[in-house]
Amino acid sequence: MAEGLRIAVLKERAKGETRVAATPETVKKFIALGAAVTVEQGAGEAASIADADYAAAGAQIAAAGDAVRGAQIVLGVQGPDVAALTGAQDGAWIVAGLDPFGQRSRIDTYAAGGYEALAMEFMPRITRAQSMDILSSQSNLSGYKAVIEAANLYGRAFPMMMTAAGTVSAAKAFVMGVGVAGLQAIATARRLGAQVSATDVRSATREQIQSLGAKPIFVESVAGIEGEGAGGYATEMSEEYQKAQAELVSSHIAKQDIVITTALIPGRAAPRLITDDQIATMKPGSVIFDLAVAQGGNVEGSQPDEVVVRHGVKIMGYSNTPAHLAADASALFSRNLYNFLSAFWDKEAGKPVLDEEIGNAVRLTQGGKVVNERLLG
Ligand code: NAI
Repeated sequence: MAEGLRIAVLKERAKGETRVAATPETVKKFIALGAAVTVEQGAGEAASIADADYAAAGAQIAAAGDAVRGAQIVLGVQGPDVAALTGAQDGAWIVAGLDPFGQRSRIDTYAAGGYEALAMEFMPRITRAQSMDILSSQSNLSGYKAVIEAANLYGRAFPMMMTAAGTVSAAKAFVMGVGVAGLQAIATARRLGAQVSATDVRSATREQIQSLGAKPIFVESVAGIEGEGAGGYATEMSEEYQKAQAELVSSHIAKQDIVITTALIPGRAAPRLITDDQIATMKPGSVIFDLAVAQGGNVEGSQPDEVVVRHGVKIMGYSNTPAHLAADASALFSRNLYNFLSAFWDKEAGKPVLDEEIGNAVRLTQGGKVVNERLLG
């Protein structure tokens, strides 16, 4: 039998990246589809997956530089440098989180190299693509981790405790931005016993907040975004809205012990939700976790991977939150990639053939050119 299409799994090179784009489980599944899989030596190490586990699943293990040889599909968590693709087949697919807006010049090098770059974060938010959505799978874990890290920095307990020495009161937690990460943050903070409130600009989140047992805090004087918003995403809000939101937040935030911010706008800097003046109104010892810190931050003064103390309030955020949960994040990310490629697997062609709706959404480069509307517009 002729060898099937070859998939290469590279070791991530970006600083602080611990995840890997395939697990032994997905390697096995790709092989069952008829593909051959090469995994670069040590690719899974930081996610606690040994080369031997990949080999047992049927992968070939190759040294750096050799792993990509003959590959038609290269899987990554983040986009590899174009130099790392030398030896892949002409027109090979690069399937990864490519950060198309942040890494625009790298995308140009993929085009120039003749590669077909598929950005997984451009997956459309449609029902059939939910299982392929890396933003959702990684945000979910990030929302959880943000609360755990905040709890760890907080010098008090989350749940109310009645002890012989007296009562410990429950922490008050406020979640700003109720997308995938925010919903998980609410659920996690509730499980730990905090009293939780939350806000968003999209009106559809009000019921979701309530259904998790938290209190919705919404701007009432100026209209926000109706329902889910376009594709589930928020846009930049008017000045009038921002002013009303700032007033609302100012009065609420002073009473909070824990604040988790998650607000993002695709392709733009994260909206500023908390100013230094507002931080000054919070109680010393309070904690703010800024999940948007890598996109410019929702919180004035937040710094990636540092605990900043302002007015006695600890502010922190990670440049790469899912990398702090490497094993689970890798497992979910890898399944997203497998679900995507397998959904389009054409048995006769022995490779995936994308349809227009999803193909045009995720494809950044083809035939030597950048072809994606969102990068051209
Ligand atoms: P996101 O990561 O882009 O943003 C996080 C949250 O911040 C959003 O809820 C957004 O409305 C909010 N936000 C933005 N600006 C804000 C501001 N100024 N103040 C307060 N909040 C602000 O969003 P995420 O988490 O990726 O998902 C958003 C929605 O998309 C969710 O409703 C989710 O259910 C839906 N979705 C649907 C999918 C599908 O059907 N395949 C997949 C993923 C998400």
